[in-house]
This record gives sequence, structure tokens and C-alpha cells, in this order.
Amino acid sequence: VKKIAVLTSGGDSQGMNAAVRAVVRSALYRGIEVYGIQRGYQGLLNQDLRPMDLRSVGDIIQRGGTILQTARCKEFMTAEGQQRGAEVLREQGIDGLIVIGGDGSYHGANKLSKLGIKTMGLPGTIDNDIAFTDFTIGFDTAVSIVVEAINKLRDTMTSHERSSVVEVMGRHCGDIALYAGLASGAEAILVPEVPFDLKEISLRMKDNFQKGKRHGIVVVAEGAGTGEEVAKNIIEYSGIEPRVTVLGHIQRGGTPTHNDRILASRLADYAVQRLIEGDSAKGIGIIKGEFVATDIDKVVSTKKTFNLDLYNLALRLAQ
Ligand code: F6P
Repeated sequence: VKKIAVLTSGGDSQGMNAAVRAVVRSALYRGIEVYGIQRGYQGLLNQDLRPMDLRSVGDIIQRGGTILQTARCKEFMTAEGQQRGAEVLREQGIDGLIVIGGDGSYHGANKLSKLGIKTMGLPGTIDNDIAFTDFTIGFDTAVSIVVEAINKLRDTMTSHERSSVVEVMGRHCGDIALYAGLASGAEAILVPEVPFDLKEISLRMKDNFQKGKRHGIVVVAEGAGTGEEVAKNIIEYSGIEPRVTVLGHIQRGGTPTHNDRILASRLADYAVQRLIEGDSAKGIGIIKGEFVATDIDKVVSTKKTFNLDLYNLALRLAQ
């Protein structure tokens, strides 16, 4: 491997820039040329790529978003699109590609590897829904944003002795809700992985208010329902009228935490190393502090294990 490329794809996440920077600089440090592909797989098909030098990734480690921009590309989901993508890379003499993104982006990398391009996937998504890594790049920042928002909600909830339903991101994975809920002392955490009983939750909240609690916070992952639906149920079962806050894309922006910057830098450096050694079609992750490179096939077909211990701890403490 002499010349590699890097792209970001799917929903962006904080720390993607730190990962791009680390890919570029780790490769250059090892004497490998690097190209940056603009707008994910769409940019690959449009041949929108440029050589990256040390300075091209200066002043980005602290920035949210991605300087390479990102897209969700339908054309690349077809066999013809994938063939064309591999051809574009070959025409440019690029034999290795690092893809930073989530599940869909990993699928693309897998296809390209079957067409002779060596690929590595870096887990870039706020959802933390990728198997074979404890954390994805962006998750820590997203959780911090939710916790900060709930801190603010708590102030006003307590003054008015009100309850709040906070809807957070997480299409198929409740990790943002779980970690943010535990860290902010939520009364209930609703996630797609665990069944819940809104009647029981509503009555418990009512009881808690009667016993002197001055606020009640329910965090719901979008994959478990909408904030509005949850609030409607709470009104029906308990008469309590919660305010609903949907945090939305706010969770995907802003400066990455030091944890995300360090995670991105370490995983990217390791991905470059594996690529240069000739490895391919691997999803890079970190489990209990150790780097792991898992076949992308296996990564995309495995559902991330939900941390029930943390969930139960949050329940025990929410009294
Ligand atoms: O996968 C990341 C994510 O932020 C999900 O949590 C959310 O459902 C989705 O992307 C939103 O996608 P879009 O940016 O296309 O609205």
C-alpha cells in the first residue's frame, strides 16, 4: 500500500475531523500518500478527491462536523456504483481506503474490499451502535451535550415542580439515552432494547412528587418512541403534564470532548498501521483499552450488546 484515501460518510459526528487529521498525519509520517475524498461515497463517484498534506488538516482537531463533508449515497448501494468507485480509486493509483462512519459506511467499505481495494472502517457515529468497540467516535460528546441540556432543564423543572421528557438520538441503540440518563439522574430511561411500562413509570413519577420530589426527568431514545407520545401517556396515566424537549441535531455538533479526540486519534493511527500491513475489510475498535480489528462482515451483522448492568443501576438510583 503506497497511496491511501480517506472519506467520511453517513451522519457526521464530533471527532470525525480529529480522525481525518490522524489518518492523514499517520500516513504521511509513514511515507504514504493520502487523498481526501469529499462528500463520502458520492464524492468518490464524482472523482472529487485531492491530495492532503500536513497543513491541510491543521486547526481541525477541535472542530465538530467534517472538513471532508459527508453524504448518504444511494448510487453507491448498487453493484454498478461500487464497481465505479473501485475503478476511480484504481485510476488514481489508490490501493487503500479508510472509511469513517457508521453501519452503512461499513457496508460500502466491505464491498470495495471485495473489488480489490484494501479498506478499514473507523466507527464514527454519535449513536454508539457499532459492535466490537466499546465506544464510537462522537458518542462521548453527544452524551455530554445531553447531560448539559438536562442540567439546564432541571433548574427550571425544579423551580416549577414539573417533569420533563427529553427525546434524544439513537435510532436502533439506546446508549445515548442510557449514559446521559444515568449521568443526569433521570427517573426513567426508555430505550429500544428494553421493554417498558409507561403506566408504571407515570404512577411512580406521581408517587415521587407526592413524596416530595421536585422534578421528574424521562429520557427517551428516538428508537423507543417520540417525546410527544411518551408525554401523552404520562398525562393520561397520572395527570402530570410534562414539558417535551427534542434535542435533535444539536447532539451532533460542537467541539469534540478530549475523549473523542483521543479515541479518534488512536483508532485512526491503528487503522493506518493495519492498512499498510496489508490487512483489509476490518472494522477498528477498542475493547477494554485494547485495539481490535474485526471482519467488517461480522461487525455489521452483530448487534451491539446493551449494557443492562448500567441500565439496572440507573433504575436503582432513580428513586
Ligand atoms: O445515526 C446517527 C443519527 O444521528 C441517528 O441518531 C439519527 O436517527 C439520524 O442519524 C438522523 O439522521 P439525519 O441526519 O439524516 O436526520
